Amino acid sequence: MASPDQTPMPDLTPMPDLTPMPDLTSMLDWRDETIPVSRRFDDPYFSLAGGLDETRHVFLTGNGLPGRFRDGFRIAELGFGTGLNLLAVLLAHRGPGHLHYTSFEAFPLPAPDIARALQAFPEVAGVAEAFLGQWRAGATVLRFAHLTATVILGDARKTLPAWDGQADAWFLDGFSPAKNPELWSVALMAEVARHTALGGTFATYTAAGHVRRALSGAGFTVTRQPGFGRKRHMSVGVKP
Ligand SMILES: C[S@@+](CC[C@H](N)C(=O)[O-])C[C@H]1O[C@@H](n2cnc3c(N)ncnc32)[C@H](O)[C@@H]1O
Repeated sequence: MASPDQTPMPDLTPMPDLTPMPDLTSMLDWRDETIPVSRRFDDPYFSLAGGLDETRHVFLTGNGLPGRFRDGFRIAELGFGTGLNLLAVLLAHRGPGHLHYTSFEAFPLPAPDIARALQAFPEVAGVAEAFLGQWRAGATVLRFAHLTATVILGDARKTLPAWDGQADAWFLDGFSPAKNPELWSVALMAEVARHTALGGTFATYTAAGHVRRALSGAGFTVTRQPGFGRKRHMSVGVKP
């Protein structure tokens, strides 16, 4: 590491780019030494009752996956976090056929934090290594045998409207609507619907009334389903 007197002058040129600088310092606390909690949002990255099981219950089963997987199937996600949802998809899909996964993330986590968080899930160890090898190298397009993932860095309120893709299934995985309201706004839910193929679906762990109304107002047929862990309900929907 450079000593203070060798530190180069910071570049003070104003950045026209709306993408925030990647967050290279750890902004996490650890509950029970294993569950990452965001200091910025004061909220855990996944359920205290078991992150991988929650992903499978909420995002996979909630979207009718893996049953709907076919060649070219497109998943999109709000909130990449530790990448656990991506890894659950990799475990659920071993081919044939190639999937596309696009995730929107404003505050990418440093690789050592992700590695520590994923240690709680020995089942994902193999795919986690393949993911982390690429993440450490700074890649935001991540290539696997039967899936290509693209992580779009920046505030989803700016990057999703500019995205020219469509999704067959959405994972809506912001922090809780009370703590991360910008990721659940009426305008953003309308963008989610606009970027959903006909017959496409969403799933989310929350059953908050204003989120359900926003998704329903955006054109989804929204239903409530049993939630995971201590959550009584979650929400799923289809774009008819
Ligand atoms: C609950 S965590 C996602 C957990 C993740 N899916 C996983 O598997 O670990 C919510 C994520 O949303 C991101 N986020 C919060 N506000 C955002 C915004 N305005 N735009 C994009 N990402 C945002 C946070 O940085 C965090 O990574």
